[in-house]
Amino acid sequence: MIKIAVVHGPNLDLLGLREPALYGTHTLEQINEAMNGEAKQIGAELRITHSNHEGEIVEAVHDAHQWAQGIVINAAAYTHTSVAIRDAIEAVRLPTVEVHLSNVHAREAFRQRSLIAEVCAGQISGFGAMSYLLALRALMYLVRQAAAE
Ligand code: DQA
Repeated sequence: MIKIAVVHGPNLDLLGLREPALYGTHTLEQINEAMNGEAKQIGAELRITHSNHEGEIVEAVHDAHQWAQGIVINAAAYTHTSVAIRDAIEAVRLPTVEVHLSNVHAREAFRQRSLIAEVCAGQISGFGAMSYLLALRALMYLVRQAAAE
């Protein structure tokens, strides 16, 4: 079983209510359920955290270092501002996939810059809730590839 930390950032607890045309109608709970279902199929075990607070997201990344083999993170608005989250991801050196529901590159200029992108293995952006499932698969591929080397 490959252990994966899933970290959701600010305002994602409002999914379903929040700008459904951009972010879809699924709630965070429904997304988590779908991820757990996907995880079962592909041999992963997830621990899922949500926080609206930057420091708690930093701590969730630190904590992952103790038990996880990789991280899937939607840092939400902190993606565009947080040197602290960027540095935490770099420090723990776990393969990390950056996720966004919306296509951040097709939105405002400030969303087109991700401070965490350069310390992540890759980014999946623009596929709604499916972005998370694709990210899980991408991370599993990376972890298994590293184990085979
Ligand atoms: C988001 C995109 C961010 O720009 C925004 O601040 C979010 C959600 C996304 O999943 O599309 O909160 O990360």
